[in-house]
Amino acid sequence: MVSVELPSFPSKQGYLACLSAILILSICTCSLCFTRPEGRKCRKLRSMEVENKYVTIKHHIHGLPSSLDFESRSATLTLMIPPGSEDVIVKNLFVSIDPYQINRMKVCSSSQKTVDFARRLHPGHRIDAFGAGRVVASGNAEFKKDELVVGVLGWEEYTVVRPGSMLRKIDSNMDFPLSYHLGILGPSGLTAYAGFYDVCKPKEGEKVFVSAACGSVGHLVGQFGKQSGCYVVGCAGSKKKVELLKEKLGFDDAFNYKEETDLKSALKRYRYFPDGIDIYFDNVGAEVQEAAVANMNAFGRVAVCGVISQYTDAGKQAAPNMLDIIYKRITIRGFLAYDHLSIYDDFVSATSDHIRHGRIQSLEDVSHGLESVPSAFAGLFRGDNVGKKLVQLAADNINSRR
Ligand SMILES: NC(=O)c1ccc[n+]([C@@H]2O[C@H](COP(=O)([O-])OP(=O)(O)OC[C@H]3O[C@@H](n4cnc5c(N)ncnc54)[C@H](OP(=O)(O)O)[C@@H]3O)[C@@H](O)[C@H]2O)c1
Repeated sequence: MVSVELPSFPSKQGYLACLSAILILSICTCSLCFTRPEGRKCRKLRSMEVENKYVTIKHHIHGLPSSLDFESRSATLTLMIPPGSEDVIVKNLFVSIDPYQINRMKVCSSSQKTVDFARRLHPGHRIDAFGAGRVVASGNAEFKKDELVVGVLGWEEYTVVRPGSMLRKIDSNMDFPLSYHLGILGPSGLTAYAGFYDVCKPKEGEKVFVSAACGSVGHLVGQFGKQSGCYVVGCAGSKKKVELLKEKLGFDDAFNYKEETDLKSALKRYRYFPDGIDIYFDNVGAEVQEAAVANMNAFGRVAVCGVISQYTDAGKQAAPNMLDIIYKRITIRGFLAYDHLSIYDDFVSATSDHIRHGRIQSLEDVSHGLESVPSAFAGLFRGDNVGKKLVQLAADNINSRR
């Protein structure tokens, strides 16, 4: 979602030459194919070959996901680029775990027909996902062996990045942990920044409400809000998260939405928003959105970033009061970070500056090993994660930073 430095597609002739090279190479070497599904265990791996493990869905998923919906498979991968190919092979070090992937795992979801990155996943197939890693082989002049990169990789140990896929070198002058390029300086950060500044257009002193406030996007929205002189209240699903928001991240207030039986009056009656809400940054939808709209001021703005409660329960569609929307002239706007790449440089520059000066903190929640991907993913829908959920697949034996 972040990167825009795309390697170009090879010409038709280049593509055909590359295809012939692959065919000739495959015929000559008989079994030296680039991927071979698990199950045909008939020979030892040759040098330059690895068994590339990946996580896939066993079947399409309905409702809440569990680890049992996933399985691990492997395929033989040759860590070599055939002549003429512009592929780049990346050893994945971190992969991002994101709620939107659940909509790709369903038999059908309206999201699947909208943008390419949300297309449907199929049982047994690899799952592409944002990630960071190190180049192990490259046929593309823009990427050299051992360089650190970030882009669309996968829930797998190695990814073959084809020309046209999103891949970007990590700026070696940016002395931040690699994981930051998936979170605070990556898609989550851009989502928070674009949604808050481009969509909500905050003014100093405005009252901001954020849901899933201790999550990857939410904890950054709240901190951007504080940097802009706003009054910020977040809601989250546990006491520990609520304390973190108030004590570590500087939110003015926070509460546990699971403890509220009447969210509408809770937002108004208690001290959170006695003067109403100007901006609601919605990560969850359903009754939280309805309660926020009911408590909004005239000309309030709602940025609909995500509706996670609806992802696993289609009955949880928000039905905000239309009379509120008309008479209070409220703007409700859905957005995708993907549409705001034009502000990417501004976002990285402003956010890096905030991090360097200790004005904004990054919360990360890292699990280890490819086998932890299914439980890490299912945990998003139980509220297990605190901050950006990542899985570290391998320790980087060169450097964790550049
Ligand atoms: N528009 C875009 O471009 C864009 C980009 C990235 C993400 N998103 C969306 O933004 C939202 C947040 O994403 P994220 O990556 O930052 O995830 P996240 O907040 O780090 O993780 C998801 C969190 O949602 C909360 N949650 C889970 N099920 C819930 C439910 N049924 N009702 C209320 N809260 C629930 C949980 O926190 P609690 O403990 O608080 O319940 C959980 O920790 C998601 O809806 C996602 O799809 C949109």
